Amino acid sequence: MAFSKDFLWGGAVAGNQYEGGFQEGGRGLSTLDVLTGGGYRKPRMVTYRTKEGIYGESPVDSSMTGKIPQGAVGCIRPDTFYPSHMATDFYHHYKEDIALFAEMGFNCFRMSVSWSRICPNGMYEINEEGLKFYDQVFDELLQYGIEPVVTINHFEMPLYLADHLDGWSSREVIDYFVFYARTVLERYKDKVKYWMTFNEINVLSGWCQLGIHKNDPQTLYQAHHHIFVASAKVVELGHEINPDFKIGMMAAVIPSYPMTCRPEDVMEAVRFNRAREFYMDVQVKGYYPSYKLKEFEREHVRIHMEPGDLEIIQKGTVDFIGFSYYMSTVSTTDPDAEQTEGNQFMAFKNPYLKTSDWGWTVDPLGLRIVLSQIYDRYHVPLFIVENGLGANDEIETDGSVIDDYRIAYLRDHIMAMKQAVELDGVEVMGYTPWGCIDIVSAGTGEMKKRYGFIYVERYDDGTGDFSRRKKRSFDWYRKVIASNGEDLSDCN
Ligand code: BG6
Repeated sequence: MAFSKDFLWGGAVAGNQYEGGFQEGGRGLSTLDVLTGGGYRKPRMVTYRTKEGIYGESPVDSSMTGKIPQGAVGCIRPDTFYPSHMATDFYHHYKEDIALFAEMGFNCFRMSVSWSRICPNGMYEINEEGLKFYDQVFDELLQYGIEPVVTINHFEMPLYLADHLDGWSSREVIDYFVFYARTVLERYKDKVKYWMTFNEINVLSGWCQLGIHKNDPQTLYQAHHHIFVASAKVVELGHEINPDFKIGMMAAVIPSYPMTCRPEDVMEAVRFNRAREFYMDVQVKGYYPSYKLKEFEREHVRIHMEPGDLEIIQKGTVDFIGFSYYMSTVSTTDPDAEQTEGNQFMAFKNPYLKTSDWGWTVDPLGLRIVLSQIYDRYHVPLFIVENGLGANDEIETDGSVIDDYRIAYLRDHIMAMKQAVELDGVEVMGYTPWGCIDIVSAGTGEMKKRYGFIYVERYDDGTGDFSRRKKRSFDWYRKVIASNGEDLSDCN
């Protein structure tokens, strides 16, 4: 058997995309609450109000880099639909959803805790009702033997911190975040063992994700430095609270191949891949790598550090690397190379590979390649915490959803993961496909872009009764888990 007996099989979601209940149970507002829906090549919008009281909206680009003018505050407009407000209403359906996950045989479930549900304005006020909600969710999971895998921060920040402190550009936010993290680590120390600090730390940018009003390299990297310090402090603190905690980092892994063997293309791929490796170097090895320091010099980026920051970063290295893997791209110096959509950025088209309905390049072998490369470089356990196919699922007249394309995508990726374990000796802890139940797309704000094994009747015009139905992939994944990844055959 390729996978160990305690291999973690489950699924993954994020608060702002599935939880809903945005104004229930004392929750405060978060930056993502003022993000409208969008669509394929139709940007989501941030809605805001200026100092003069004038409403405005501004587009969020594919990297979710929303911008609002200095002095303006994020606001909800009464005439506008915000998909995350109800999302897929896990807030009221969690018992039903967890029962379905248990039926599939999940032994883990990756979810995030909402900062503004615990600390409504992001500061030192604690919302007991918010804590109780997650107590109930964790208890429900544990009753079925499902381990929660918790992301402490998935792409959002309390609106108050963005509006009043310019988000992560302020050093004070480190203390607020550590307070929030301490609150959840202590509260759930006997219920949750697996944690990740920041989702896809390597792509965080702009107002929606970081609360910053400028997105130039100086502002961005200063904000990232604050996040590194905050994360390292939380890792150290977590290990003090419970030495059995496994606390990981989380990165978006989108490997890039050189388009040709021209050394310039190869160098371009090195540059592209380093943009991700930088975050792993800091959080796993515990230092700022020389190639990044040189880049800072060239770009005139000066990170303000307090005495002791580098020691904090060094001491707070993570126990494992969690990462998302959906696609690969290619690197080229050719300005006319054909582009295609990508996860939070425009990618280049690989002539040897197909793309999904949303233009993302499908590359299962790429998963084996990155697993090997990351493991060789860092020698820590790896956890694939996101992988999946966003597709336009249809309900047939008999009520079924036949998502064979999703089965094929996941089968090929699980096969590649298996090869990395069996043939390359990579230590993989677990696999949690993304959006195991349909959720709102982060990039497009759509419900139409579905990833789940479970279909949720919720649509982009705000209609739908939130009822759940199993897709064909539901039984397939149940069989995969029951056989510990040995039986990947179709259920026909
Ligand atoms: C990852 C994010 O980048 O990709 C998720 O961590 C996101 O939040 C996922 O949902 C898929 O992207 P999208 O845009 O299809 O939802």
